[in-house]
Amino acid sequence: MKFFLDTANLDELRRGAEWGIVDGVTTNPSLIAKEGRPIKEQVAKICEIIDGPVSAEVVAVDAKGMIAEGKELIKIHENIVVKVPLTRDGIEACSALSKEGIRVNVTLCFSPAQAILAAKAGAYFVSPFVGRLDDIGQTGMDLIRQIVAIYENYQFDTQVLAASLRGPMHVVESALAGAHIGTMPYKAMDALFNHPLTDKGLEQFLADHKKAFGA
Ligand code: E4P
Repeated sequence: MKFFLDTANLDELRRGAEWGIVDGVTTNPSLIAKEGRPIKEQVAKICEIIDGPVSAEVVAVDAKGMIAEGKELIKIHENIVVKVPLTRDGIEACSALSKEGIRVNVTLCFSPAQAILAAKAGAYFVSPFVGRLDDIGQTGMDLIRQIVAIYENYQFDTQVLAASLRGPMHVVESALAGAHIGTMPYKAMDALFNHPLTDKGLEQFLADHKKAFGA
């Protein structure tokens, strides 16, 4: 399973990069807005830190505008993946860009039916949002399981990028479901490290070593 960081914050990306476990980055207009720098500048800086796919989302809502914006975004760096919303225009833009060999991440996917559309349009990634479904009382993880099964049935090449992951169990369950990638905020990735028995065990090892050798 690949791990992406779902952030546009450069400090978080630098810290994640130091661990050596970050395979790519997802951003969205809200995450870019939080950093206060225009998308092209911010994404260029992100590409200097993480060597892997970096999703940059269009803000146009019509297919023509999305295609034009996507073509501008890919000029920033070879690792850019154009992110479009799962709308009729987004699927049209995905089909057109994919046919030209441009990698597209279809985002805001909330149903298996929508995921089939993304695959048929040649999406490189589809981003089903787990946490936001949980937020409205649905089991978001069921969506990941359904999409993985459907894509396997038809050998679709589109990779399942489990998104809107909020904590360790979302990551573990996505992995069990067979998602190709999990994208998560820095806080969720950091939480994966934690286990009280690791802390307790390490404390004991160090104490025993000190008792025996004095350092
Ligand atoms: C995915 O690409 C999105 O940026 C993201 O995962 C949304 O997560 P949220 O629901 O926590 O905002």
